[in-house]
Amino acid sequence: AENMLWGGRFTGGLDPLMHKYNASIQYDKLLYKEDILGSIAYARANAKSGIISNDEFTEIERGLREVQKEWETDTFVIMPNDEDIHTANERRLSEIIGKDIAGKLHTGRSRNEQVVCDMRLWLRNQMQEIEGHLIAFIEVIAARAEAEVGIIMPGYTHLQRAMPVLWSQHLLSYGFYFANDLERLRETSKRVNRSPLGCGALAGNGFNIDRDMMAEELGFTGLLWNSMNAVGDRDFVTEFLQWGSMLMQHTSRWAEDLILYCSSEFGFITIADAYSTGSSLMPHKKNPDGLECLRGKAGRAFGHMAGLMMTQKGLPSTYQKDLQESWEPMLDHVKTISDSLQIANGILATLTVKPERMRAALDPFMLATDLADYLVRKGVPFRETHHISGRCVAKSEELGIPMNELSLEQLQAIDSRFEEDVSQTFDYEKSVEVRSSKGGTSRARVLEQVKVLKAMLA
Ligand code: ARG
Repeated sequence: AENMLWGGRFTGGLDPLMHKYNASIQYDKLLYKEDILGSIAYARANAKSGIISNDEFTEIERGLREVQKEWETDTFVIMPNDEDIHTANERRLSEIIGKDIAGKLHTGRSRNEQVVCDMRLWLRNQMQEIEGHLIAFIEVIAARAEAEVGIIMPGYTHLQRAMPVLWSQHLLSYGFYFANDLERLRETSKRVNRSPLGCGALAGNGFNIDRDMMAEELGFTGLLWNSMNAVGDRDFVTEFLQWGSMLMQHTSRWAEDLILYCSSEFGFITIADAYSTGSSLMPHKKNPDGLECLRGKAGRAFGHMAGLMMTQKGLPSTYQKDLQESWEPMLDHVKTISDSLQIANGILATLTVKPERMRAALDPFMLATDLADYLVRKGVPFRETHHISGRCVAKSEELGIPMNELSLEQLQAIDSRFEEDVSQTFDYEKSVEVRSSKGGTSRARVLEQVKVLKAMLA
């Protein structure tokens, strides 16, 4: 342990398993670039406050760029004592430019601030990419909703046929879940993109470092205002995991709808080959694996979120090694979310709708509410018309004939206020079009929703 970066006070060596158990280099090396950019900003600020000379800064920057190049060309050699990306980069820097100057880089700095600087920079950039994927997915939803606005399908509650709706209305129902996710993502990004640099190990920097200058160089939009908070906080990761869990809750529900809709029983859609797989035994099978992965990965996302919250609960303030457990959930979550959004986009962009199958699944009983509304428009109180329409349903079931084929006499035997024009009630298009207040499933209101949804992307 004497050879470690922090080894001055140690005489005994580390248990080899303890060394591995404690090390994070195998995953935090992914952020070599953020670590180097953070170090350059830190060195520049130290030159400004006079702790290192301008020449020393130039030399440190040159060395760090060389280390960066080694990572980029895959020639960086990780040594047994490189515990994490911070120690690895600094060790290599001192080999390249010599201990005398490299040894000044860490003046007043702690890995506690460095690690969150790296993570925040990286996550901020990843969230920007994820935002792009989310927007692209919502755009496909809006485009399909607009292009396919005439198609009518059964709308369900309790998975029972309820009322006819436009296929576009169904699509847009998810569009608005995802638009809210977009709003939340933008909100969360603000809290991620704040700078911890210059907070030291926990108490702040003793060399009058210019924190604003470093924050600006790294593209942070603000500072973390308390040094103890800055090094102890992993809420920025937790919040991202919570955000993504909610997003995955939505993609999972969406996937479940489509899994049902592509079954033979529904047959409303078919999924493109590109997102399906076959069976090793049953030659005829085409399974919606892309959608099932989407549904399944939601569990993985929630698990990471819950795990990280449990890691933090009950921790004393400021930095504890437990916080290193925030790395892997963060890395995995970014990949899960990013992949899932691109897969969801691909599935939706390539699926085929079967309007005739949707129409065949409509059932005259889905117009029972319209039948009740017919009498409402003739002045009968709804509580009464609901009951009357219910008796028509019962009659139809009793006689075994569809409700729309009951004769006027049969309807009038139930209630004398039914007239000739009642036949016009049994019309799916009309049922859809009559629901024309804002947010409803009529064509015009659906096209209005497309506009509102698109505006939310800006
Ligand atoms: N690998 C560590 C982490 O991810 C870096 C910070 C270590 N700081 C320390 N004082 N041991 O949390």
